[in-house]
Amino acid sequence: MKRFFLVITILLVKTGVFSQASITLSSTAGKTKISRHIYGHFAEHLGRCIYGGFYVGDTSKIPNTAGVRNDVVAALKKLKIPNLRWPGGCFADTYHWKDGIGPREKRPSIVNTWWGGVTENNSFGTHDFLNMCELLGTEPYLAGNVGSGTVQELADWVQYVNFEGESPMSKLRRENGRDKPWKVKLWGVGNEAWGCGGNMQPAYYADTYRKYATFMTDWTNGGGLFRIASGANSADYNWTETLMKNIPTNMLGGIALHHYSVINWAQKGPDVDFTEDQYFTTMQSALFMDSLIIKHVAIMDKYDPRKRVALVVDEWGGWYEVQKGTNPGFLYQQNSMRDAMIAGATLNIFNNHSDRVKIANLAQAINVLQAVILTDKEKMILTPTFHVMEMYNVHQDATLIPLTINTSDYVVGNKKLPAVSASASKDSLGITHISLANIDARKEQQVSINTSGLNLKTVSGRILSSQKLQDINSFENPDKIRPAIYNGASLKGNTLTVKMPPFSVVVLELK
Ligand code: AHR
Repeated sequence: MKRFFLVITILLVKTGVFSQASITLSSTAGKTKISRHIYGHFAEHLGRCIYGGFYVGDTSKIPNTAGVRNDVVAALKKLKIPNLRWPGGCFADTYHWKDGIGPREKRPSIVNTWWGGVTENNSFGTHDFLNMCELLGTEPYLAGNVGSGTVQELADWVQYVNFEGESPMSKLRRENGRDKPWKVKLWGVGNEAWGCGGNMQPAYYADTYRKYATFMTDWTNGGGLFRIASGANSADYNWTETLMKNIPTNMLGGIALHHYSVINWAQKGPDVDFTEDQYFTTMQSALFMDSLIIKHVAIMDKYDPRKRVALVVDEWGGWYEVQKGTNPGFLYQQNSMRDAMIAGATLNIFNNHSDRVKIANLAQAINVLQAVILTDKEKMILTPTFHVMEMYNVHQDATLIPLTINTSDYVVGNKKLPAVSASASKDSLGITHISLANIDARKEQQVSINTSGLNLKTVSGRILSSQKLQDINSFENPDKIRPAIYNGASLKGNTLTVKMPPFSVVVLELK
């Protein structure tokens, strides 16, 4: 009988009905904690991310708390967002924080030169952002202006938000209505210094970083400022090498890395009506994150074998042409099952590299690039990416279970990619979670997982899938794609068998 089933399975695989993957979970408890900060987000003054996205002002008819949309706060709390990066992006190196404090009517207006040339009236500033983070229960991650600012300006910002005692900046903060400091730990020292942050060369930026970092005083009473150097553009390994060589590790909390899943910067392709070939190329770019991390980490390991410096992937996600009819400078795109696949596969990569990747920020939270939330005036929808981030949040601060994977390929013409990716962890209650992404646009995958030594008895799960790769949640049909109870996994002894439909994401809970 066993032989009969084996022959049938081989036939089904050969005829292309489904493919197979096998995974072995390590039975010895891992030592690496998957930092919850890998599940971070990003809010730039860009398009409708802040204005209309997070913030509508306290005179708006849209229900809000101090101007921040209540629906957005409730949704983001479900994600358990661990940190939020602000105010940019490229905008950060044009931003003078003193423009955004004090009475709104006295705040100056500026031009948002990077994003659409629109007028920025600074009605959303430091207090608004940091109070919003308190509302969200998330850690702020402030990006300082190095490109067009001064050392004094950034040092003052640190003092303004973090100093408890009597000082010029804490006095100003109190005059503006906030007694206690917010004690912000995460600080970016500029953004994309190789590009919009000043077109610097790596050795020049390394020296500039040292100077800025020196004057960013740690006012947090031992909490420690976590200073993050502006990092490489994708595969610019020389940038990482130069920074690691020239900045002492005790001055460096982390080094950033930016990588977007893009087909081609000159022709990014549509957000929704993409072809399978375009999907394949996007996924190729997304999966490239794994080899990028491996290579940047190898350089970091040379200078920092004890892994004290974090790799901070503080911009990642899919980048397509903007929705037709929208401002090209606003980077507004819809979000399909393709984005769910980018998120599932990328978060598996981050989890599996969590010994070095300690922070990551999806670009961006609302109405910009691979957003988790889209808004249209009073309406709000959750994207497929939101659902993946919510399903995967079980990994936050859990212990990584290392795994090995053997997967069949997703083949298009003469090109191929590994079809299945996975990551696993054990949380503080002893519950094991496995997240799986099958990026194959056509084939179901039968995944066999060896759980020997883990003593697991029950399995349940959730799945995110849809009929078409191009499917989206729209304002007319907001729940077309949402997680469903998943019954496609069975546990017999030490073998867990999981049947995954094409382009689907599954998260399993095992006890
Ligand atoms: O996320 C959009 C932009 O992409 C950011 O402002 C910049 O840092 C990057 O180039």
